[in-house]
Amino acid sequence: MKAVFYGRNGGPEVLEYGDVPDPAAGAGQVLVRVSAVSIEGGDLIHRRTVPPTSARHVGGYQAAGVVEAVGAGVTVVRPGQRVVGQADRGSHAELFVVPQERIFPVPDGLDLDLAAPVPVLFGTASDALFEFGRLRAGETVLVQGAAGGVGVACVQLAKRAGARVIGTARGADRLERLTALGMDAGIDHSAEDIGRRARELTGGAGVDLVVDMAGGAAVPQLLDALGHRGRYVVVGAAGGGPQSFSFADLLSKQLTVSGVYLALEIHTARVHDLVRGFLEDVASGDLTVPVDSVFPLRDAARAHAHVEEGHPFGRVLLHP
Ligand SMILES: NC(=O)c1ccc[n+]([C@@H]2O[C@H](COP(=O)([O-])OP(=O)(O)OC[C@H]3O[C@@H](n4cnc5c(N)ncnc54)[C@H](OP(=O)(O)O)[C@@H]3O)[C@@H](O)[C@H]2O)c1
Repeated sequence: MKAVFYGRNGGPEVLEYGDVPDPAAGAGQVLVRVSAVSIEGGDLIHRRTVPPTSARHVGGYQAAGVVEAVGAGVTVVRPGQRVVGQADRGSHAELFVVPQERIFPVPDGLDLDLAAPVPVLFGTASDALFEFGRLRAGETVLVQGAAGGVGVACVQLAKRAGARVIGTARGADRLERLTALGMDAGIDHSAEDIGRRARELTGGAGVDLVVDMAGGAAVPQLLDALGHRGRYVVVGAAGGGPQSFSFADLLSKQLTVSGVYLALEIHTARVHDLVRGFLEDVASGDLTVPVDSVFPLRDAARAHAHVEEGHPFGRVLLHP
C-alpha cells in the first residue's frame, strides 16, 4: 500500500511517500481502508520527538474510512461499515489498523471528511471543559488556541453549555470566524496581553476556567487571566517553550490545575457515549467541524508544514 513514513525524528521534511507492506487485522483489531486522515497535533509531536519504530514508521493516529476486514473476536463493526478510528500510529496510509475499542461507527449521511477529526477534537474538548474543568452554565472560560482543532470544538461545546466564551487566536479574521461559532469575545494573542484583556472583559474578576492548547511563554498571562478559585486545564503545548506552575501561583488564587490526555480513556464506555453523541451532532449540523484544507496523502510533508506554520482554522486533512 502507499503510505507516508519516516525513519528519523524531525520537521515535515523527514516524511516520505512510498510503498510499505499491507498491514493485517490481528485479534481484536479492525483494518480500515482510509478515506480521510485528520492530522492531529500529536502527530507533529510524535514526528519531532518520539523515536520511530522502524526505518519506515507510518505515523498518525486518527482517520475515517470503510472497514476492509476484521480480526478474530471483533464484534463492534463488520466489513463495509463506515468508521472513524484512533490508534497509536499508522493513519497516514491507505490501510489503517485500529483496536476495536477505539473504533466508532459513522452515522449515515455524515461525510467521512467531517467524521475523521471528531473523536479526538470533541472528546478532548469535552473532557477539558467538563470532566476536568467542571465548567457550568454562567461561568466564563478562556480557550487559548481557539482556532485550532480542539479549540473550535471547545468554543462550540462551552457555548452550548451556557458558558461565556473568550477565545484567543492570531489575527482578526480568525477571531471573526470564531465569533460565528459562538465565541463571545476574542483576544489576538499576537498583539494583546491576554491577562489584562481577560480581566477587562470580566470586570476585573478574571475567568473561571482556562483551557490551554498552547503552553509556552503565555502561561503567566493565562494565570493572570484566572480569577479566585480558578481552574486551569492543560491540553497541549502547541506553542512550545517552558511550561510550569509554582506553588505561589497556585496558592495566590487557590487555583486547581488538571491535565487531560484523552488517549488514556478513549476506549472507555464513557468516552464512547460522548463521541457517539458528537458524531450525531455533527451529522445533524448542531456542531461544526471546520476543515481548513485537504491535501493528497503524497503531499503530507506540505500538509504538516501548513499545520505547523500556516495557522489553519480547524482541521487539515489528507486523502489517500
Ligand atoms: N491532551 C490531549 O488529550 C490532547 C488531545 C488532542 C490534542 N492535544 C494537544 O493539544 C494541542 C492543540 O491541539 P490541536 O489539535 O487543537 O492543535 P492545532 O489544531 O494545531 O491548534 C493549535 C493551536 O495552538 C495555538 N498556538 C500555537 N502557538 C501559540 C502561542 N504561542 N500562543 C497562543 N496560541 C498558540 C494556535 O493558534 P494560532 O494559530 O492562532 O497561533 C493553534 O490554533 C496540541 O499540542 C496537541 O498535541 C492534546
